[in-house]
Amino acid sequence: MTSLTDIPALDRALEALGTRCLVLVGMMGAGKSAVGRRIAPLLNLPFIDADQAIVEAAQMPIADIFETYGEPEFRRLEMRVLVRLLSGEQRVIATGGGAFLSTETRNLIARKGRSVWLKADLETLFGRVRHKSHRPMLQTPDLRERLSALLEEREPVYALADLTVISRDVKCEQTVADVLQAMAGEPVMPEHGPDADAEKEKNDG
Ligand code: S3P
Repeated sequence: MTSLTDIPALDRALEALGTRCLVLVGMMGAGKSAVGRRIAPLLNLPFIDADQAIVEAAQMPIADIFETYGEPEFRRLEMRVLVRLLSGEQRVIATGGGAFLSTETRNLIARKGRSVWLKADLETLFGRVRHKSHRPMLQTPDLRERLSALLEEREPVYALADLTVISRDVKCEQTVADVLQAMAGEPVMPEHGPDADAEKEKNDG
């Protein structure tokens, strides 16, 4: 793969983004922060992790916010932080996995940003989050079952994002390149794009 800064899609991606924020959405473990952190310098924009901004605003870890105040209060805080982030300077924002579920937040993102859903399948997500115990939404003895239920509930909503890019166990740089390509309006390689599974089924007969 050539260096990411050589990617011709970069200029077109920037042009398509205009002055809006790039907002990464999707499940826990989809790679929003990893991709956001890498793509931001390429776009010459600052990166912000919304979860991190919430922790700073609340002065406590996310698990403690859930435990002390409950999920509804966390969601209110998440919304307030996103309003602030989206109203400020142009940037790349990695949202928490539940943020895009709120209609209000989605509308705001639609107005101020360009959203990209990093779509990962159950096994990919499971593999990535299984050893990470800090997420309050995943405190359950049956992690795969919980992820599966969340995916079923959330995927139709994530699908409302402006763009969809598949996140698999490839190098993060590849996913970054795929996002830039999708932003530029160029077809993503079938094995990386959203139709990869359908394509595979077709090929497998
Ligand atoms: C959540 C995802 C987390 C964090 C919180 C709730 C969710 O963010 O916002 O624990 O509801 O999916 P990540 O997606 O960055 O893990």
